[in-house]
Amino acid sequence: MNDISNVARLSEPLKFAYWVPNVSGGLVVSTIEQRTGWDFDYNKKLARIAENSGFEYALTQTRYAASYGADKQHEATSFSLALLAATERLKVISAVHPGMWHPGVLAKYIITADHISNGRAAVNIVSGWLKNEFTNFGLEWLEHDERYVRTEEFIKVLRGLWTEQEYSQSGKYYNITDFTLNPAPVDVPGRAHPEIFFGGNSTAAQATAGRVADWYFSNGKDLDGFKENIAGVVASAGESGRETQRGAEGRLAAPRFGLNGFVIARDSEKEARDTLREIVEKAHKPAVQGFRDAVQEAGASTKDGKGMWADSTFEDLVQYNDGFKTQLIGTPERIAERIVEYKKIGVNLFLTGYLHFQEEVAAFGQDILPIVRELEADLARRNGTELDLSGTPVASASTAGAGSTAGLVNA
Ligand SMILES: Cc1cc2nc3c(=O)[nH]c(=O)nc-3n(C[C@H](O)[C@H](O)[C@H](O)COP(=O)(O)O)c2cc1C
Repeated sequence: MNDISNVARLSEPLKFAYWVPNVSGGLVVSTIEQRTGWDFDYNKKLARIAENSGFEYALTQTRYAASYGADKQHEATSFSLALLAATERLKVISAVHPGMWHPGVLAKYIITADHISNGRAAVNIVSGWLKNEFTNFGLEWLEHDERYVRTEEFIKVLRGLWTEQEYSQSGKYYNITDFTLNPAPVDVPGRAHPEIFFGGNSTAAQATAGRVADWYFSNGKDLDGFKENIAGVVASAGESGRETQRGAEGRLAAPRFGLNGFVIARDSEKEARDTLREIVEKAHKPAVQGFRDAVQEAGASTKDGKGMWADSTFEDLVQYNDGFKTQLIGTPERIAERIVEYKKIGVNLFLTGYLHFQEEVAAFGQDILPIVRELEADLARRNGTELDLSGTPVASASTAGAGSTAGLVNA
């Protein structure tokens, strides 16, 4: 399991990702100014800034229809591929709905993306909540827990086709017979195949992720909420024999954990809190309310009522992945301390969102990340180990015009 007191884990630096703004309207459903574009040119520059600012991953969103502040959307897999081609080190995680793809077609697509990018392609498998996207396309809309039955089979097909020759799998949703995909994914040390991320909060989501995902993404949570949220994943992983982070004898390594947080870093606590207040005061109320109604299709409608947005308030939903709950709001020092508190309870990766992506991703690398690394190094030393930054992206002096981040990582 993801042993939280594991000393070895404390030697691993936290990883950082950002949400790719490939849908219009930014990351908060509010009329507050957001200097964030959704077009490719904006995103290309952003991706280069991010990889030069110590970010290891970018996550695209999959959305097919106008909804809740996102009037326009770019398709996730093609957008991700273009970002991979425009960068050198960034890993781009493409969101994918199982109900929209055949897993064999996706497996092949991602292998090609992996070769084009020299081993940097990844996927985020999301089971979906926006019913109309499926029904208006004439696709079947499965009942909540059944969506996860299909998702689990889908992930097994992906992994099978990426790691085995003449792969066969028969199940309720997919039947694969003696299939070999050539070429195989790029052989990257420490990676068995393109990484499989997974987003979902309900009981069914947690159980599925525990069995088959490499990474579990949690919506924004406070410290106790995060512990509670990953407990089901950890239990399910343990029942499946995935006890260790490394994996052994053909077993999958235990899942790792990513947490969403909306970052508001300002010179003073007051300025940061005022910005949050303004975001919420200027919320687009009908859009947030409409979103709230629609997400009943997510876990809130299940028997135990435990789902991604089941306990979210109006304020929480202004950032549609509950990013304010993580409280990455305040001065850079305060945010860095908060981030390391989460590391102590099992977070391996932070997925971050901002009001003004290009400027704030660069500022995160320059002002927050060096403090995080110092705090992580202290924490490791106090536990009798060293922080190992050898495989971690290091900021370069140039961030494509968004300010200097020289000397970012304190080794
Ligand atoms: C980090 C993260 C990213 C997600 N990205 C998308 C997305 O791009 N498109 C989408 O339709 N749903 C996305 N989802 C939502 C999931 O598809 C799913 O509907 C949601 O997690 C509710 O699941 P639950 O009812 O099992 O809690 C994402 C969820 C998380 C946690």
